[in-house]
Amino acid sequence: MSQIITLHSYRGGTGKSSTAANLALLLASAGRRVALVDTDIQTPALDVMFSASMPPAHSSLTDYLIGRCEIEDAAYPADTGTGHEGLFLVPARSRAAGINEIMGRGYDVGLLREGFDRLIDSLALDVLLLDTHAGFNNETVTAMASSDALLVVTRADRLDLAGARESMALAGRLGCGRLSVAVNMVPDGIGHERLRSDVETVYDTRLTAILPYAPELASLAGERHFSSAYPHHPLVSGYRSIISEVSNGTTGLRR
Ligand SMILES: Nc1ncnc2c1ncn2[C@@H]1O[C@H](COP(=O)(O)OP(=O)(O)O)[C@@H](O)[C@H]1O
Ligand SMILES: [Mg+2]
Repeated sequence: MSQIITLHSYRGGTGKSSTAANLALLLASAGRRVALVDTDIQTPALDVMFSASMPPAHSSLTDYLIGRCEIEDAAYPADTGTGHEGLFLVPARSRAAGINEIMGRGYDVGLLREGFDRLIDSLALDVLLLDTHAGFNNETVTAMASSDALLVVTRADRLDLAGARESMALAGRLGCGRLSVAVNMVPDGIGHERLRSDVETVYDTRLTAILPYAPELASLAGERHFSSAYPHHPLVSGYRSIISEVSNGTTGLRR
């Protein structure tokens, strides 16, 4: 069974893209076939995180949505840095198809869902990971509605947690599959038991992972991926626990 996992947050900057990139790398390094789609057309990140794998004149999700290419043409094999193959990246935008193009023209939202299904089939994927823009725009809501599992990435501050009720209500209405919550950028010295209980109360669900604040992530300067550079870091253990919980049952069989 292949699986669509969507990462979402109510506010921006909670660590969705960093988490998505590292989950994708860890899954591919474990032998899964994985595609990572950057549906964040407004503030894309994955093309930068995987710049070494991107040809300068690449196609993108936007090119596909405005009818310039097939979705398969926008999927690029990505370097995992571990010698493993089986990771593909669909960047959000390209030189030819920028934000003006898509905002000016609009697009048929049905194409997004169709594109996800096509990627699963043509790349014989085990896991399709969807990175999203924060909040609730067309791409984000479609990605949420397409998911078998929804991973909410939040920080532990009041502003992030304030969006929990709205996120949960929408996830329920859209039928987003299994909900998991990860608290990211948790500073040293915060009591995990209290944090767990507070977040579980707000989200009314069991917390999947507490991901520590890792200054090393900022100092990597995008040159290496965190999980390859620091495979034994507690943050990477957190990513692994997300995988074992969220991608449960994804053992290599395809739907
Ligand atoms: N656990 C963490 N510790 C320290 N910095 C982090 C952590 N997770 C993400 N970051 C940093 O936070 C910033 C925002 O992360 P990003 O993944 O782009 O968030 P989002 O996609 O939700 O907007 C980036 O500079 C990233 O390097
Ligand atoms: Mg992002």
